[in-house]
Amino acid sequence: MKLLFIGDVVGKPGRKALSLLEKVIGREHIDFTVVNIENAAGGFGVTAELFADLSKLPIDVFTSGNHIWDKKDFVPLLGDLENLLRPANYPPGNPGRGWAIQDTPSGIPVGVLNLQGQVFMANTDSPFRIGDQALLEMKAKRPDLKVVLVDIHAEATSEKQAIGWWFDGRASLVIGTHTHVPTADARILPKGTAYQGDAGMTGAYEGIIGFDPKAILEKFLYQTPRSMETATRDVRMCGAIVDVDEATGKARAITSIQEKLPS
Ligand SMILES: [Fe+2]
Ligand SMILES: [Fe+2]
Repeated sequence: MKLLFIGDVVGKPGRKALSLLEKVIGREHIDFTVVNIENAAGGFGVTAELFADLSKLPIDVFTSGNHIWDKKDFVPLLGDLENLLRPANYPPGNPGRGWAIQDTPSGIPVGVLNLQGQVFMANTDSPFRIGDQALLEMKAKRPDLKVVLVDIHAEATSEKQAIGWWFDGRASLVIGTHTHVPTADARILPKGTAYQGDAGMTGAYEGIIGFDPKAILEKFLYQTPRSMETATRDVRMCGAIVDVDEATGKARAITSIQEKLPS
């Protein structure tokens, strides 16, 4: 079977780029699609209205990260949404869930686990230990679960690689999000887990991690806050496609993708 993972959707350009999903799903014979939408609303979180629109797209599970908490009105809704995840290792008491299991149309259960790194990020619980716990809970719920996808939302490349090796042989795919720059390190780890350090963002690449360079440059130059606007040019949908043996959950191949939206 084939999994499609798409990295952080940034603002309106990113949402527009998702119009490419249908074409890619058809062309590549994709069975299950996961998209990280932590930056869907102008770069910061998601709103109920936008989520309703995104839910009309051919996406099975949505993942997120640190920015999912940005839209305060939306956060309480996290508890009601079965297919929108936030990192599992935030402290207990926060709304929402960190993993989900859904069946493909042909009846193959696919587990999706969302974790967040601890390096240069919020003081969450360990993604290693909470990840282990979550995997046990997922297997307890669906003993026939073989295909598991992990979105590790993290800043440090080393921490993302460590999560890859931690889950090697236990997940079909470990893929990084959050840094918005696609990494050229897609590979299969020794025990059969596909890995890519960062899926890359889905948004406008003529800018700085999806935003207009002016405000970000000023932020660095003057060390004071600026309001940021999304960039607009060179819009791409980025991520990876993984061919998985559904009988074992092991990956056969991983291919990074960058689909350009015609301007
Ligand atoms: Fe992001
Ligand atoms: Fe993030």
